[in-house]
Amino acid sequence: MRKRPIELKVIIRCFLGLNFVRQTVIAGNWKMHMTCAETKNFLKDFIPLIENINTNRNIVIAPPYTAISTFASFSNSMNLNIASQNIHWEDSGAFTAEISPIMLLEHNVKYAIVGHSEPRKYFSESDEQINKRAKSAQTNGLTPIVCVGETLEQRERGEAERIISRQVEQGLEGTNPEDLIVAYEPIWAIGTGKTCEAKDANKICKLIRSLIGYEDVIIQYGGSVKPNNIDEIMSMSDIDGVLVGGASLNPISFARIANFK
Ligand code: PGA
Repeated sequence: MRKRPIELKVIIRCFLGLNFVRQTVIAGNWKMHMTCAETKNFLKDFIPLIENINTNRNIVIAPPYTAISTFASFSNSMNLNIASQNIHWEDSGAFTAEISPIMLLEHNVKYAIVGHSEPRKYFSESDEQINKRAKSAQTNGLTPIVCVGETLEQRERGEAERIISRQVEQGLEGTNPEDLIVAYEPIWAIGTGKTCEAKDANKICKLIRSLIGYEDVIIQYGGSVKPNNIDEIMSMSDIDGVLVGGASLNPISFARIANFK
C-alpha cells in the first residue's frame, strides 16, 4: 500500500511540541437527496477516489434514512463513516417522523447531525431540543455534529458573536467536548454560493473553541464549501473540517474536497 502523506498541520504542531489529537472530519450532508440506486452509483465512483487519503482524515456522509442501509452495505472503505441527519432522545415511542438512536446503531451509524439551520428554520427546533439530541447521541455512543450559525440580518446588526455564544452555551450544555463536533455554518452562506471569508470563519471557530474551553474539540466550517475554496478554508488554524451540502452530492467534487491540499 502507498505511504500516506502527513498533514501539514500535524507537522507544525509536532514541531511546536504540541500533542496533535484533533482529527480532520470532512462531512457531507445529502439532505433530502439520493435514492438507494443513486447511493450505490455514488459509492462506486467515490470510494476509489478516497482510497489513499491520510488516515487522520475522517470522511463522513449523512445519507437520507432510506439510503442508510444501502450505504452501509456498499461502503467498505475504512475512512468512510455514516452520519444520520438527526436523532431523537428516546429509544422508541409515539414520535412520528423521528429517528431513534438504537435504530441508527443497528446500521453502524457513528455520527448524528443536530441543530442544522434547516430544521431550526422550518421546524422551529429550539436550542433545548438540540441539546437533548446532542446528549442522546453521546449517551448512545454516536458523535453529535452540532450546527450553529447566524442569519444575514443578525450578522449585519453585529450580533453574530452573541447568537453563536447563546447557541453554543444552550445547545452544548452538559455535553462531553471530547466526543463532539461543532459545525459553524453561517446561514447566509448555506446553499447560496456565498462563502464566509476564511479568516472570518476562523475567528468564529476560535470563539467557539474558547467558549467550550477545550482546545481539542473538533470544529468544522460549513456553507458553500466547494472544490475551489476548500484548500484555503482548511489552511485555517481553528478549522478542523467541513460540513458540505451541495458539493457532497457529486463524487468527483466531494472527493476533491476530501483530498484538500
Ligand atoms: P451547502 O450546505 O454546502 O450546500 O452550502 C451546507 C449545509 O447545509 O450543511
